[in-house]
Amino acid sequence: MSSTRLCALDDIENTESAGMEAEIDGRPHPLILVRRGETVYAYINSCPHIGAPLDFKPGWFLTLDKSMINCANHGAHFRIEDGLCVAGPCVGKSLKPVPVIVKDGGVFLA
Ligand code: FES
Repeated sequence: MSSTRLCALDDIENTESAGMEAEIDGRPHPLILVRRGETVYAYINSCPHIGAPLDFKPGWFLTLDKSMINCANHGAHFRIEDGLCVAGPCVGKSLKPVPVIVKDGGVFLA
């Protein structure tokens, strides 16, 4: 069985983020992808505060220092590694993770 290929790893610059859509369980979902070296973290692009997409500008999800995922709506900050909100109006809640793997230079739904 082949898994869904989302993009090439190099389509996401190291330490940067990207947005895309992928079909999960038969429905399209907007995704947040963040690259850290050979690792990619993925979440559903829906803020646990009010369910809005996090990015005002498509694909821009990170704080200026690139250390956190930022929600552009009300400034919530989420840890890249596990999606936990550590600042803003939804502290303690988390982005919904999407399991992905990197192999053969591509990023795939796991
Ligand atoms: S919608 Fe994300 S902080 Fe309000």
